[in-house]
Amino acid sequence: MRMPVIAGNWKLFKKTAEALQLVQELSSLVKDVEDIEIIVAPSFTVLGPVRSLLFDSPISVAGQDCFWEEEGPYTGEVSPNMLIDAGCSHVIIGHSERRQLFDETDEKVNKKIRAAIRAGLTAIFCIGETLQEREADQTFTVLNTQIKKGIENLSPDEMKHVILAYEPVWAIGTGKTATDEQAQESHAFIRRLIAELYSSSLADGIRILYGGSVKPDNIRSLMVQPDIDGALVGGASLTAESFASIIHFRK
Ligand code: 13P
Repeated sequence: MRMPVIAGNWKLFKKTAEALQLVQELSSLVKDVEDIEIIVAPSFTVLGPVRSLLFDSPISVAGQDCFWEEEGPYTGEVSPNMLIDAGCSHVIIGHSERRQLFDETDEKVNKKIRAAIRAGLTAIFCIGETLQEREADQTFTVLNTQIKKGIENLSPDEMKHVILAYEPVWAIGTGKTATDEQAQESHAFIRRLIAELYSSSLADGIRILYGGSVKPDNIRSLMVQPDIDGALVGGASLTAESFASIIHFRK
């Protein structure tokens, strides 16, 4: 059985006071939750304070990105060990906003994933096609390339520290979720590809999250799909009530 993961990507939102209020409310709303991995990904500047507040909570903290070098003359970058030092256990890598706005290539994504895992983090590796690619029937070709290049040279052991996140770009922040069937079809494709590249037992164990306009009212039907193991939530993770009700999808 794969343990479901519900992760909140806060993107460029929440300064210290707002971030602390959000996690305080969230931890009390989800204290009854068992058998679900809960992760929040605040911006770099509030990682430390958020982690301190969650010190005895099962909620994990993730960075939204990291660089591949550990230290050096790289102004503005944050290394995997710095994330660990701030209390992170996970890091999001290859989000479409980084690919589209900050020139993140598959090669850079691969270097970041490898460095993150080497440092002891679990990488939440994002992939997904644009609307143009979907309409041109390129979805599986794009996913195939992003995955093969993103995890190139990762050993089966290293793959145990990867969570995949399928986020169709056209569904992010648009209110236009992929249908359950569209999401399941892509997730099944991704799992088959991992089985081909590694083994069916590794593919059976890997978690594949869906992201793109996940809300309390669409989470249930996504989660019943056989290859959807959780969600990477943007907008709806910014208030404790909506994120908690997504986490409570079984209720
Ligand atoms: P939304 O849930 O706001 O569509 O964002 C999804 C996302 O990009 C999570 O990483």
